[in-house]
Amino acid sequence: MSRAVHVIGIGTGSPAHVTGQAVSAMRACDVFLVADKGEAKDELVAVRRGLCEELLEAGSYRFVTVPDPERGPDASRDAAQYQAGVDAWHAARARRYAEVLDALPVDAVVGFLVWGDPAFYDSTVRIVEAVGRLTPVVMSVVPGISALQVLAAEHGIVLNGIGGPVHVTTGRRLASEWRPELGTVVVMLDARLQCVQLLKRAPDLYVHWGAYLGLPQQELRAGRLADLADELVTLRAQLRERHGWVMDTYALTLPTGTAGGEGTEDTARAIG
Ligand SMILES: C[S@@+](CC[C@H](N)C(=O)[O-])C[C@H]1O[C@@H](n2cnc3c(N)ncnc32)[C@H](O)[C@@H]1O
Repeated sequence: MSRAVHVIGIGTGSPAHVTGQAVSAMRACDVFLVADKGEAKDELVAVRRGLCEELLEAGSYRFVTVPDPERGPDASRDAAQYQAGVDAWHAARARRYAEVLDALPVDAVVGFLVWGDPAFYDSTVRIVEAVGRLTPVVMSVVPGISALQVLAAEHGIVLNGIGGPVHVTTGRRLASEWRPELGTVVVMLDARLQCVQLLKRAPDLYVHWGAYLGLPQQELRAGRLADLADELVTLRAQLRERHGWVMDTYALTLPTGTAGGEGTEDTARAIG
């Protein structure tokens, strides 16, 4: 018998982000599996628990934390080593989840509460597929509100210029990928604010930045990157120190009239 597994996007921490579809899927779950990534990210586990306490009936579900396998030093790896490291980490995670699933009653419905939307920089769908190669599962995926949507909403902007593209990438890839023709570039997973590398090539870049989007400690900044870069680097370090972890994302645009900046008036206005 195949086990039902729901991969549920929960938004970025605010109960108001959880869609009706997500609440229905959460109610159908008997057990939530949560990766335990160590102390620094305990707060992310606590947020998930808080959402369940707020949205579900007490006693109707169980929370099982699964210690995350050690992950290697990504920053010092080249692209091939990085991919191999991620593959090994996914395989180790899949084995752990398969063991946990096999120990549950066969009719238990299992949920994974995915931060933001499962479609953006999240491995849960791939890991559940890998789990399915070890023990039978039927997976369903529920979309959530992604950090990039909350970033746009909190700044009150449209990400694309009129009829223009949006390029979503990681800090690791930003410096090598960026060119004006990409249009708006949204950067996730950037612990080093790699946008600073672009200042010489693109001094007119405008940034909309947000940290802890959707959470009570949310921080927003917007302005010319050249003017904001130092403040962002300092603020990011301070926030990390204060909270023990930081998640931030940002959108880079060129003003109208520069190459690739067609129609970006909407996205290049300062708010607040
Ligand atoms: C592993 S990815 C997961 C993205 C998630 N699936 C989503 O749709 O937002 C984590 C990255 O998303 C961004 N992110 C997630 N939550 C965030 C938040 N509340 N505030 C700012 N950025 C966030 C950060 O760039 C972080 O490095």
